[in-house]
Amino acid sequence: MAQTQVRSAHALQVHPLTCALGAEISGIQLAQAAHDAGLFEALEALLLEHKVLFLRDQQLSRAEHVAFASRFGSLEDHPVAGSDPDHPGLVRIYKSPEQPADRYENAWHTDATWREKPPMGCVLRCIECPPVGGDTMWANMALAYDKLPAHIKAQIAPLRARHSIEATFGAAMPIEKRLALRAQFPDAEHPVVRTHPKTGEKVLFVNGFTTHFTNFHTPATIRYGQDFNPGGADLLRYLVMQAYIPEYQVRWRWQPDSVAIWDNRSTQHYAVMDYPPCVRKMERAGIQGDTPF
Ligand code: SIN
Repeated sequence: MAQTQVRSAHALQVHPLTCALGAEISGIQLAQAAHDAGLFEALEALLLEHKVLFLRDQQLSRAEHVAFASRFGSLEDHPVAGSDPDHPGLVRIYKSPEQPADRYENAWHTDATWREKPPMGCVLRCIECPPVGGDTMWANMALAYDKLPAHIKAQIAPLRARHSIEATFGAAMPIEKRLALRAQFPDAEHPVVRTHPKTGEKVLFVNGFTTHFTNFHTPATIRYGQDFNPGGADLLRYLVMQAYIPEYQVRWRWQPDSVAIWDNRSTQHYAVMDYPPCVRKMERAGIQGDTPF
């Protein structure tokens, strides 16, 4: 069983939250880690180990939030969700009775896999949250891959899949706006199993943005043309549903000034939308990633 550990260099303490992933970090302030190379490196290593890091009571201004996240790499805005006007790269995820319809976070997903280079990670800070509800869940997709039956691993090893912003964020838009979004972000294609560039782990890399396999329809897998649709779609649904398995998950309850840092290459997440009509305000710094292989 995982134990709490003390990392003496910075009085940093690590408290694993589940057997699958996630650790709460205490004894430090991220504002300091933005300027302290040793502390930042310790957090970077812990992120690879635990995949999601959680911190409470962070006195972090928007500028410090951006400064800390930027140590991992350049930040990116989101084409649909707006950013803070004074802090590009800091995406606002604000929900209130006046903005109830925007519901994209309550589906299991890896952020922005519709990009050719999906983000490597994110730093999410809670500004305001409901008294109860509005939790976020994460799933360990390296563990999900590892636990797949051997014959499924063999079947999906060569497969590639499309990921679409048009079919998700674009779906509720008028057609002209949707087509303009598609022109700006054509569907991306990624391997169904990616290799984590830092840890070498194999990761199951399909999620709520994935529409279909692009190379499923071969003579080896298809007897007749009509096999394609149920065969490919059923397999994709089975793979996407691996993130729903509780043994692969951690669930985090927010408070104002709580922060989560996640490795977007090896996890999925789901923001539980059980709180309307309450207000929930989160700010997310998404960090540019590389091409999955
Ligand atoms: C996200 O889906 O990136 C945001 C998660 C959240 O608001 O909890």
